Amino acid sequence: MLLEVKELNTHYGPSHVLQGINLSIAEGELVALLGRNGMGKSTTLKSIMGMVKPTSGSVLFEGKEIAGLSSYKVAQAGIGYVPEERRIFPELSVLDNLMLGIKGGKISNTNDPNAWTVERIFHHFPKLKERAHQPGGFLSGGEQQMLSVGRSLMGNPKLLLVDEPSEGLAPVMVQEVRNVLEQINKAGVSVLLVEHNLKVAMSLAHRVYLMSKACIGCEADVEEVRNNHDLRARYLEV
Ligand SMILES: Nc1ncnc2c1ncn2[C@@H]1O[C@H](COP(=O)(O)OP(=O)(O)OP(=O)(O)O)[C@@H](O)[C@H]1O
Ligand SMILES: [Mg+2]
Repeated sequence: MLLEVKELNTHYGPSHVLQGINLSIAEGELVALLGRNGMGKSTTLKSIMGMVKPTSGSVLFEGKEIAGLSSYKVAQAGIGYVPEERRIFPELSVLDNLMLGIKGGKISNTNDPNAWTVERIFHHFPKLKERAHQPGGFLSGGEQQMLSVGRSLMGNPKLLLVDEPSEGLAPVMVQEVRNVLEQINKAGVSVLLVEHNLKVAMSLAHRVYLMSKACIGCEADVEEVRNNHDLRARYLEV
């Protein structure tokens, strides 16, 4: 397994948000983490990433314990994070925003044909290429989402944690962001995707975990989530 989360608990003060979540991701997989608002999906990603310190439990990445490490160390180990709020630097150019992604991640071997470079990112995101020298703040919401994904790829992650990439985007951009995630996964990057848009999530996911009051990190069958309206009503729909 590339990532194995075991019995992970996270508190915010007295509030016990993650109550023993278990999940795993194999190399090459795209796994969706679904659930209603406030169930702890973002907290799961932040706990893996070291942005929130878990109170107990284990996070193994490539067999090594990373629970409790700083997010800088987690990024260096090979995990990228695309936060919900995107965190683009509006005054910096698109290119400079991308270059910042190198710093956080793994130093790539420049001879490695699979290493992510600006050229390779521009190939996947032609819109960013057109705007390479414009300030990040000039980009549309969808383009900023692309930039946020592209920036994290510059750190050459083996695993990308992506939080609600289609949030607030127009339908055309939702589709573009979806396609980019598919391409990136096909290029060999494993993905843990938190997504409210079920159509998007279910068109991408190889496997699904649900987070609800009754079922913290239960694995669900993709076909079942696609087809079983009762299950969707119980765990996912508002
Ligand atoms: N920094 C924080 N301090 C205290 N409580 C928090 C903090 N961040 C989140 N929470 C609480 O923890 C719970 C889980 O939040 P989280 O953001 O992980 O949920 P989520 O599943 O990502 O929800 P959404 O679908 O709305 O993004 C919520 O009840 C939230 O109010
Ligand atoms: Mg969230």
